[in-house]
Amino acid sequence: MSKLLVTGASGKLGKSAVTLLLANGVAPGDIIATTRDPSKLADLAAKGVDVRAADFDDPASLSAAFAGAERLALISTDALDVPGKRLKQHQAAVNAAKAAGVKHIVYTSMPNPGPESRITFAPDHRGTEEAIKASGLTYTILRNSWYNENLFMSLPSALQSGKWFTSTNGGRLAYIAHVDCAAALAAALASDNTSSEVLTMTGPQSLSYAEIAALASEATGKPIEVINLTDDQLAEGMKAAGVPEFMLPFMLGIEANVREGHFDLVTDDFEKLTGKKPSPLKDFLVANKDALLAAPAGGGH
Ligand SMILES: NC(=O)c1ccc[n+]([C@@H]2O[C@H](COP(=O)([O-])OP(=O)(O)OC[C@H]3O[C@@H](n4cnc5c(N)ncnc54)[C@H](OP(=O)(O)O)[C@@H]3O)[C@@H](O)[C@H]2O)c1
Repeated sequence: MSKLLVTGASGKLGKSAVTLLLANGVAPGDIIATTRDPSKLADLAAKGVDVRAADFDDPASLSAAFAGAERLALISTDALDVPGKRLKQHQAAVNAAKAAGVKHIVYTSMPNPGPESRITFAPDHRGTEEAIKASGLTYTILRNSWYNENLFMSLPSALQSGKWFTSTNGGRLAYIAHVDCAAALAAALASDNTSSEVLTMTGPQSLSYAEIAALASEATGKPIEVINLTDDQLAEGMKAAGVPEFMLPFMLGIEANVREGHFDLVTDDFEKLTGKKPSPLKDFLVANKDALLAAPAGGGH
């Protein structure tokens, strides 16, 4: 079998994807797992996975790290602190993959990353998709919808106060389970498909915040009233609740993106890729009922 490489393999998605590759029968010696800190992957190394150091901020580290890989999963980094930094990291990874002889790139993007997106970091994904297409390598771009797990940022305080403030104004979002994104990544990487595709990974239903609140209430037995505000009103409330000012454009961008419908899409791409149905949000809410009911860390809005 050709060698399959996963970058960022000590992150949550990377680790799950490598674990799934092994569970699906890929030989450990056919997997290269790269990370900035190989000591975090001693468990995988002990199983025979080829663990190597790779840091996209250090392009010189990438040629040895990527050597011998035929298909490479490029996991988008979490470097959102400096605008443009993440795109530069990803461009370095794409260039290094090409130079190392990688044939196919799988990349974790986001739904509708075009100029219409209100997500502050959409340009990173758009630019990375463009760099991959320009590289001449074949690719599978996985536009992953919002993880269910992101609801831990809003639902615990909504469940505690009984109120969920939003400016999404009925807009919808098809949340997806993190584990389903890992399964999609593992399937795309291990596939022998060498055509280029852009696939959007979504959960089975696109839901408004009122519909999500109803599901969360059903799962926990606690009512939530969804209160629609303007962006300005929401920003004031967030500030009063202690959300740092620098976070506001990011958080309001998500609200606007949902309101304007850029996340309102359900596809069957996940099922086509993995042969399985994506798990419904309801299952996540039921499975995480106790954690959602635990008091939110910082009070909150
Ligand atoms: N769809 C969504 O709702 C959603 C939510 C959150 C994040 N994301 C995106 O999905 C990605 C994976 O999610 P996750 O749950 O695995 O997040 P995570 O656990 O926070 O992982 C962060 C990832 O960034 C990698 N990374 C950071 N700096 C790097 C660098 N200089 N060079 C190479 N890799 C670097 C890390 O790799 P190592 O530590 O192993 O080096 C790790 O794989 C995130 O990084 C983010 O881009 C999507």
